[in-house]
Amino acid sequence: MLKGQDLISALQFSRGDIEYLIRVAEELRKRVESGERLDIARGRVLFTAFFEPSTRTRLSFQFAMIRLGGTVVDLGPEEVSSMAKGESPEDTLRTVDGYGPDIIVVRHREPGFAAKAAQICKTPVVNAGDGYNEHPTQALLDVYTIWRVFGRVDGLRVGMMGDLKYGRTISSLSYALSNFRDVEIYFISPKELQPREEILRVLDQRRVRYELYEKPDDVIEKLDVLYVTRLQKERMKPEEYERLKGSYIISYDYLKKFSKIPVLLHPLPRVWELTPDVDILPQAMYFEQARNGLYMRMALIKEIIGL
Ligand code: NCD
Repeated sequence: MLKGQDLISALQFSRGDIEYLIRVAEELRKRVESGERLDIARGRVLFTAFFEPSTRTRLSFQFAMIRLGGTVVDLGPEEVSSMAKGESPEDTLRTVDGYGPDIIVVRHREPGFAAKAAQICKTPVVNAGDGYNEHPTQALLDVYTIWRVFGRVDGLRVGMMGDLKYGRTISSLSYALSNFRDVEIYFISPKELQPREEILRVLDQRRVRYELYEKPDDVIEKLDVLYVTRLQKERMKPEEYERLKGSYIISYDYLKKFSKIPVLLHPLPRVWELTPDVDILPQAMYFEQARNGLYMRMALIKEIIGL
């Protein structure tokens, strides 16, 4: 279904596609967890080019390829490549594309960069985050995590909280969820950080029910999932960050007030918005979520290469 294709936006996926990828990820997870050493990507090469910082997305793609028996080449930090001499990311990608990798994974601060990279490269390009725009593989692992916890996605009430304006996980997750029946989305953020118009337009077109809130207090008990995100400091003006810093914090003491605590997800990294004392709660699933990223990315590599 994905063979030879670029993966640029979560809007590319139908419900069937997502369910298929979940099945593939589940099968791979079981094989890895039973100790099997997979070798299906032998001789294949994944190239990771991150022009913006990353821990989980970069490393889980690399681990995923290695767990499939393939090889990884990483662009490395700016100082060691010709970026330091002023080469454009486009020229770097064009060059590496010529070396014949099987997949190129890119992250860049410019919205639309992944689509541009896909135009330049013959190799399938995966968007690992393009500015505030999208992060489709994160959305897939988020939905996979929700599916693993609840055994379904239909009918769930999902709160998304934090920086909904500059956070690219929010747009992609909203698009992915819009494929499922009777999902309700509760956007919780300071007014200045409400979701961008283009996201709400897609939800309207797809007849997804959503509501906007400024504080979580009134909705927490209604939610099945609360997806917390950090302020995207690097995408806002310093005054804006200082003004909004600390405007929402999910802590153990805060959650204790409620009779029902939703499953807590976070794409990570967390900064101050989700305090570490929450980690002991059984609802805190964000490290499992990060681990699910490994299996979902294995599934994506398998399908894009066509293994
Ligand atoms: C997210 C990202 O890069 O958009 N991180 C990730 O990939 N897990 C979220 C973030 O940086 O806030």
